[in-house]
Amino acid sequence: METIFSGIQPSGSVTLGNYIGAMKHFVDLQEEYNCYFCIVDQHAITVPQDRLALRKNIRSLAALYVSVGIDPTKSTLFIQSEVPAHTEAGWLLQCVAYIGELERMTQFKDKSAGKEAVSAGLLTYPPLMAADILLYGTDVVPVGEDQKQHIELTRDLAERFNRKHNDIFTIPEPRIPKVGARVMSLADPTRKMSKSDPNQKAFITLLDEPKQIEKKIKSAVTDSEGIVKYNREEKPGISNLLGIYSILGNKTIAELEAQYEGKNYGEFKSDLAQVVIDALAPIQKRYYELIDSKELDDILDQGAEKANKTANKMLRKMRNAMGIGRKR
Ligand code: TYM
Repeated sequence: METIFSGIQPSGSVTLGNYIGAMKHFVDLQEEYNCYFCIVDQHAITVPQDRLALRKNIRSLAALYVSVGIDPTKSTLFIQSEVPAHTEAGWLLQCVAYIGELERMTQFKDKSAGKEAVSAGLLTYPPLMAADILLYGTDVVPVGEDQKQHIELTRDLAERFNRKHNDIFTIPEPRIPKVGARVMSLADPTRKMSKSDPNQKAFITLLDEPKQIEKKIKSAVTDSEGIVKYNREEKPGISNLLGIYSILGNKTIAELEAQYEGKNYGEFKSDLAQVVIDALAPIQKRYYELIDSKELDDILDQGAEKANKTANKMLRKMRNAMGIGRKR
């Protein structure tokens, strides 16, 4: 059985972008693959975090993974910092990566732009992500569009390591969905929907209440043409909403265009709000059952135990391949 690895940062509320671009696919993939899903808290601290908020977000993300349908009897769900092999493998891969290629990463450029003090961890973020993936012999990495460059770098690092040291790594493939790989901001549909957006109206979180969802969708930026038609360049706002509707409402874009022919944006938006509310209701119900439960701790304990076992085996191979420590 092939292996899948993917991770999400606990750096804020989980958005509809994270769900549509990544999490929703994890649920289907766990039927066919040996899956590892991770809460990448060490990636989150590459930018400043409030200690208490971070702890809360880690637990909340764990509960959401299960609430959207990750089944801990099929998939391994764990917290990155509870599997120390990630940090060590990340260090080893930092010694394989070149500063130039890290400086060229668009995420690094975006997150460091205009800042006076940027952590070294923000620069060395991609080798840690490569470690996450490579430790599990991962074949496939399901992610949204924005992570593609990081996976390409992971492939480069794995190939370089295999060539220079020993041929131990599987070269992973990205898997990016055809629709919904880049859910856009509701306030500015030319930008990605992001959980760290200071404008709360720009994104919908998986825990937003029906009233908030209605409000945010109603105020989503569209255009003045009044025709429900998909055209990413000329009608980015309505195209983004059509993408969300299509995925959560299980209808094709063409079906939706036909359904709303001659109808106005108001009607389209209020139906879309209902579709989003209905899609999130069962997730939210399960979330509130789980969030304070021992069940959630048990899932994370078991996940960490399993992940530690697998990751430590690969870490041992990495150490031997590089010749550090004594042969084990
Ligand atoms: P993160 O936490 O930013 O996002 C988690 C997942 O959600 C996807 N995503 C989106 N998809 C569509 N539209 C959007 N607006 C949108 N926003 C986010 C992301 O592409 C991602 O799949 N570096 C990663 C976390 C990571 C990781 C890994 C991923 C660490 N180690 C190993 C895969 C494998 C990140 O910051 O994702």
